[in-house]
Amino acid sequence: MERSKKPAAIPVTSSLPQPTLNISEDRVDAVLPSGESVSVSFHGATVTSWKLADGEEQLFLSEKAHLDGSKPIRGGIPVVFPVFGPPPASGHATSSLPQHGFARNSFWEFLGKSTSESSNENQKSDSNIKLDFGLSNGMLSDEFKKAWPYEFGLVYSVSLTPKSLETSLHVQNKGDKSFEFQVLLHSYLRVKDISQIRLQNLQSKTYIDKTQNASSHTESSPEVAIISETDRVYQSLDPTVPVIVSSAADNSKLFSITREALTDLVVWNPWIEKAKGMADFGPDEGYKNMICVEAGSVSGWQSIEPSDAWECGQTIHAKL
Ligand code: BG6
Repeated sequence: MERSKKPAAIPVTSSLPQPTLNISEDRVDAVLPSGESVSVSFHGATVTSWKLADGEEQLFLSEKAHLDGSKPIRGGIPVVFPVFGPPPASGHATSSLPQHGFARNSFWEFLGKSTSESSNENQKSDSNIKLDFGLSNGMLSDEFKKAWPYEFGLVYSVSLTPKSLETSLHVQNKGDKSFEFQVLLHSYLRVKDISQIRLQNLQSKTYIDKTQNASSHTESSPEVAIISETDRVYQSLDPTVPVIVSSAADNSKLFSITREALTDLVVWNPWIEKAKGMADFGPDEGYKNMICVEAGSVSGWQSIEPSDAWECGQTIHAKL
């Protein structure tokens, strides 16, 4: 029987404005109702842009970066997997792979988004968005499949909140052989002037200096300044202690990076000559506007058994 007074429909969706998502041929762009945005290229699942509500870009992307999939993207946050740097010369399962592995040089699948709300310090709710990307052995080029013949699944999640960007990687062994790998989240942070920044919370840590024949040193400074080509692997860090990029002028925090399961930290700036030597780096003076602070597990090898999984991640807070 038809009821004359049907109860009104109860809205099930939140009354808060929702993030917007735009999926194009080569990337996903997401914008929070509060104005922050993130762009992720399917090529390498590389985050290519992260902007705060005022439109200020937080990541450095080379003007000459190849965004068409022909080369790894120079800038943003490339994902390094399953080997960091040049692979061991021979005798290791990664030895036939290119520098920094295949993840940054493969086409990932967009798995979807989820949104959530969180309370900020003023007790107002914010909308956040998480974007998931997947890569598995079946999606690799024949060349990469041959060079690294393991069955694996990667899920890379990029989560944007009004003040932070979190990127996390879930590695799964889907085959019947264990495999070894390294991981690095190669973040190119944008800075106004490299001479005006300092890195904090690295004091007393051991680092390998790749500009000095991989010799081992102990960091003596509480505030590391970048004054020349820098390529260091800081080791055995407590991932929960934030590494801070601060302003030398007033000690304000520009970025704070906490990590999960990633105990190494690579600090890289090519400086003028190396920057000029990279065909995809531009402008030449761009090295002044970037510092790579790369959370990783690269000193040794992680190993996962068949059916096992491993997870890691980083959270970058900007303008604290
Ligand atoms: C850093 C390495 O992680 O990446 C450097 O420590 C390297 O040695 C840099 O030069 C850039 O690597 P690529 O392969 O992107 O030129």
